[in-house]
Amino acid sequence: MILKVCIRLMNSGSEGKMRIYVLGCGGMLGVSLYKYFSQKADILATSRIAKETWLRSRDVRDYQGMLHDVMEFKPDILMNLAAYVDREGCEKYVQEAIDINTGGSANCTMLALNLKIPYVYISSAVVFDDNKDTHTDEDVPTPRGVYARTKYWGELLAQAVPEHLVIRPGWQVGSGSNDRMFIQKIWGQIKSGATVLNVVADKKGSPSFVKDTVLGIEWLLNKEAFGVYNMVCKGEATRYDMAVEFVRCLGLQDKIEVRKVDSTFWSHEYSAARAPSESVLTTKLDALGYVSRPWQEALAEYVSEYSDYFSLQENK
Ligand SMILES: NC(=O)c1ccc[n+]([C@@H]2O[C@H](COP(=O)([O-])OP(=O)(O)OC[C@H]3O[C@@H](n4cnc5c(N)ncnc54)[C@H](OP(=O)(O)O)[C@@H]3O)[C@@H](O)[C@H]2O)c1
Repeated sequence: MILKVCIRLMNSGSEGKMRIYVLGCGGMLGVSLYKYFSQKADILATSRIAKETWLRSRDVRDYQGMLHDVMEFKPDILMNLAAYVDREGCEKYVQEAIDINTGGSANCTMLALNLKIPYVYISSAVVFDDNKDTHTDEDVPTPRGVYARTKYWGELLAQAVPEHLVIRPGWQVGSGSNDRMFIQKIWGQIKSGATVLNVVADKKGSPSFVKDTVLGIEWLLNKEAFGVYNMVCKGEATRYDMAVEFVRCLGLQDKIEVRKVDSTFWSHEYSAARAPSESVLTTKLDALGYVSRPWQEALAEYVSEYSDYFSLQENK
């Protein structure tokens, strides 16, 4: 099989490296994915706006532009990370959310089918929005909000490609300044001098780290284990649990108080509906023998690896 040969070449570091075309590579997952895979493969990394020299501007809604890229680059694999991730924004700009999260996946599906190459679509654990405590890969998604629905439709389209890999990360963490999510927001408050953090304790999810997601994708590709996978760290958490652990990793537990609040406290800022549990289990990965590490371990490593970034030195 062509892919197996490509992966073998990628791992051997010899000439004729695998060629990966990536959409939406300029965000927290993309930067981490580029750093890792560019050591082993030829990457054409694109994003809506090219903010780095290694990125090309390409909108996932622009089928003709993407066609131009693939004719020129001739990828062996297509990866689509592009998304409108702001849940409140998606509720307001529904058409944009549909066009990017679902239409973008339709474009990628069409290209992957025409080129007969594998398609990796990054979905999300938010596709599960019911009252279940946790969710296996096989549970039927019940997306409620616009973001969740448009991501789920993107999943369904991706599954039209015979060699599809649909990955569902949970609450993502990683990539320092490229993180726009929870840990970054907590860090922003700490850097601004906050000594009390009010953090939601009535919703839970599965933390996942971009570094682990990248390694998990490679692991599945090497195994040619295509399909749909939940991909998160071991263990679940509330946002409160994550903030407490983050503050502890920073060594600031004696200086910063983390207070439990319920979600109504932040409902003005975070108005989109969120399920009581976005926690997922990695049932299929477990069955394949893939070992996910506990989220606390991943968080500690992240803070340590980004110690310069997570330093209050300049504020002293
Ligand atoms: N963040 C999470 O907690 C989380 C959890 C589960 C799954 N995911 C999924 O993981 C994937 C990566 O997200 P992320 O966490 O890395 O978020 P992110 O930092 O916001 O990255 C998303 C990337 O997509 C790009 N993008 C947005 N609209 C685009 C368009 N029309 N055409 C091309 N690129 C576009 C963004 O570019 P600009 O910066 O220029 O807008 C950005 O580089 C997404 O599919 C997301 O749904 C995220």
